[in-house]
Amino acid sequence: MTEPIAAPTTRRARPQIIDLPRVLDARGNLTFIESGRHIPFTFTRVYYTYDVPGGESRGGHAHKQCHSFVIAASGSFDVVVDDGFTQERFFLNRSYRGLWIPSMTWREIDNFSSGSVCLVLASDFYEADDYYRDYDEFKRAAEKLPR
Ligand code: TYD
Repeated sequence: MTEPIAAPTTRRARPQIIDLPRVLDARGNLTFIESGRHIPFTFTRVYYTYDVPGGESRGGHAHKQCHSFVIAASGSFDVVVDDGFTQERFFLNRSYRGLWIPSMTWREIDNFSSGSVCLVLASDFYEADDYYRDYDEFKRAAEKLPR
């Protein structure tokens, strides 16, 4: 049996925009990401959302332990991050630029452009127990962390 995932006891870093390496080429540009080298964690999982209908939003949760790195691989969208105290909105529209979302950060993703692809690198395998899906529960846990 696996152990339940505990809420963290230390406050994590702030969300941060990170520019990735670019190999510019007349045939088309290339960007690469090496785990633990270009983003501040090692990733074990990649997922992406696509075919998002106009006006829809994704996310609406926080992770206890898992870190995420979000890239608009195609098109654009907004990511609203919230550490339980302050909110910040980031507009992502470059395939070489991503947003590091540390654990214990509530995120909502909206304003998807048509045909956009939201690519996410995650530090951990999918684990339902790692999620806060209720904002008030997340906020109570976030408020207990040292500031
Ligand atoms: P969810 O994380 O809520 O998506 P988003 O944050 O983009 O709105 O996940 C939606 C569903 O997909 C949920 O039932 C769990 C499942 N899922 C997996 O099975 N594996 C994964 O790696 C992810 C991210 C989600």
